[in-house]
Amino acid sequence: MRRDPLEFLTAELAQLNERGLLRPLRVLEAEQTARALFDGRSVVNLSSNNYLGLTTHPRLRAQALDALAKYGVGSGSVRTIAGTMAIHLELEQRLAAFKKTDACVVFQSGFTANAGTVSALLSRDDLIVSDALNHASIIDGARLSRAAIKVFPHRDVGAARAILDARPRGQRTLIISDGVFSMDGDLGALPALCELAEEFSCIMMVDDAHASGVFGAQGRGTVDHFGLHGRVDVQVGTLSKAIGVLGGYVAGSRALIEFLHQRARPFLFSTSHPPAVAAACLAALDVLESEPGLIAQLWENAAFFKQGLRSLGFDTGQSESPITPVIVGDGALAMRFSDRLFQAGVFAQGIGYPTVPEGKARVRTIVTATHTREDLEFALQQFASVGRELGIT
Ligand SMILES: Cc1ncc(COP(=O)(O)O)c(C=O)c1O
Repeated sequence: MRRDPLEFLTAELAQLNERGLLRPLRVLEAEQTARALFDGRSVVNLSSNNYLGLTTHPRLRAQALDALAKYGVGSGSVRTIAGTMAIHLELEQRLAAFKKTDACVVFQSGFTANAGTVSALLSRDDLIVSDALNHASIIDGARLSRAAIKVFPHRDVGAARAILDARPRGQRTLIISDGVFSMDGDLGALPALCELAEEFSCIMMVDDAHASGVFGAQGRGTVDHFGLHGRVDVQVGTLSKAIGVLGGYVAGSRALIEFLHQRARPFLFSTSHPPAVAAACLAALDVLESEPGLIAQLWENAAFFKQGLRSLGFDTGQSESPITPVIVGDGALAMRFSDRLFQAGVFAQGIGYPTVPEGKARVRTIVTATHTREDLEFALQQFASVGRELGIT
């Protein structure tokens, strides 16, 4: 009989388990809300990207249900064959206006937007200059492109300049950074990188997955926050986080979007969104315009919670956003911290290598607009007592 060729996986899993790094999947048994039911326990939820609480917003639900009734549950095809629906185009027009660009294309996820775009724009003879902490989807897209990849230390614009100085003259080059870094909550060095892109004639691309709906006027993102409209050639956003639904998009010039229609592989080879997804995203854009109080509340909650963690003596890194890491260093300790918090009624995911560098393991928290003051005070009390128990503070 053939030996199981996947036997090595069991050994690898056992090894992760021994090192305390095996992550169980927490199961959400009801809605994705600020206090939620995971694994049968009601916990203050500091682990979702549902920044504005839109996953359960009545307007999004109603518009999604309406589209479901009108158009059915699926789109039935990839965009380039029969799967482009009028509602997809309506969403793209709204997103282009939201991002103040000429055009926009929606992908199935933020991941496919990044990976599909980077791999379509660059090829073998080109260069990608990328921040060390950029998202995995950018790294995968860069690898798929076959371009040379040069990584500069996190936010180190001097090092990015040195890479550009050393490249062959005229080499097509992409400079790429996250707007908000998802594990640290700090911001990309965007104004300085835009200057480099202009000086060295590079393509400038920003992944604003965690900034769209959070930073800038009405949540337009870090490009708006830094006043960089017209200076970022390729803006990626996601519909899966603050927008509360699912998907990713690229906003930019008409030529960029038309090119992606022809060459971005997830657009060509993977089925488009169900119409209810597009309808819910359209409703979310309405909510961003009509309920500015949500973003204000998000920032008020984030400031309160961040300050609370800092005054308890935790190392919260350089966060400038509602994402606040509590850095503990050791991977097994981060997982134990997260598990003990969960038992105490707070869900804050432990994150270790390879998602963050070795020695930088952490518990990551994300505050939303819908957390009450009581939720946040309760969470801070649990951080204080579990932190003391584990000798972290
Ligand atoms: C910085 C960044 N870019 C892109 C993505 C991918 O977005 P999505 O979840 O919509 O695929 C994420 C999500 O984890 C992210 O954190």
